[in-house]
Amino acid sequence: MHPVILITGATRGIGFAAATQLATRGAQVIIASRDGKRAADATAQIGSGVSSVALDITEQASVAAAAKQIEQQYGQLDVLANNSAILLDHYQSLLDLKPEVLLETLNTNVVGTLRVCQAFAPLLAKSHAPRIINVSSSAGQLDGEPQAWAPAYCISKTALNMLTQQLTAALPEVIVNSMCPGWCQTEMGGSDAPRTPDEGAETLTWLALEAPPELRGKFVKDLMVIPW
Ligand SMILES: NC(=O)c1ccc[n+]([C@@H]2O[C@H](COP(=O)([O-])OP(=O)(O)OC[C@H]3O[C@@H](n4cnc5c(N)ncnc54)[C@H](OP(=O)(O)O)[C@@H]3O)[C@@H](O)[C@H]2O)c1
Repeated sequence: MHPVILITGATRGIGFAAATQLATRGAQVIIASRDGKRAADATAQIGSGVSSVALDITEQASVAAAAKQIEQQYGQLDVLANNSAILLDHYQSLLDLKPEVLLETLNTNVVGTLRVCQAFAPLLAKSHAPRIINVSSSAGQLDGEPQAWAPAYCISKTALNMLTQQLTAALPEVIVNSMCPGWCQTEMGGSDAPRTPDEGAETLTWLALEAPPELRGKFVKDLMVIPW
């Protein structure tokens, strides 16, 4: 059985690289984008084993429609990869950060992710080995020295990590993980990043297909557990 894998925000960057890797490995990948045509174009680029869905994670109706489409098409979902995110405040200082920017960031990166998990939980429950992968960032870690970079984004990724822990408790049958792809050359990461999107996607692909179940509820980078 080829696992059915939904990747949000998968028309470019790390999501697209993961979609390509997973399709090559035989998975049935569903590429999601706010723009249905962009999703269809990305699907055509990869070729067989891929389909597309329009999905704006900030819109309840869009998420519900996507869940309905996937239920009709596949009847279940094996892996939900929550890859969509926004970074609006790269070099913004915390003291100048507009509350609206923090709210918009949390609305996509955290509330949007929760909305997708809620909508797809019934389809994941039909899988014999369901997984949720939340694409987070080491920028959300509480472990190291305090940092001043991108406060809204970092706060959102810390909150996303707590969402991973909450989902782990709420969904005992699902293997839930947070992961960090590392700093990658994407629209979000910029051209100075040391990693390719393909390298960043490797952990996502591994978590989707072969990571041991003992890693349930952990934060993972480069195929290893890292501190929250
Ligand atoms: N790049 C890095 O260095 C880096 C480092 C650590 C973590 N990450 C994380 O890795 C993930 C992918 O990042 P990336 O660098 O590949 O970013 P990217 O190229 O900017 O792609 C982000 C994707 O998010 C989607 N998106 C944004 N708002 C959305 C919404 N409301 N609904 C649905 N989709 C939405 C976009 O899809 P559409 O426009 O097609 O809808 C876009 O394809 C993110 O979670 C990011 O935080 C990245």
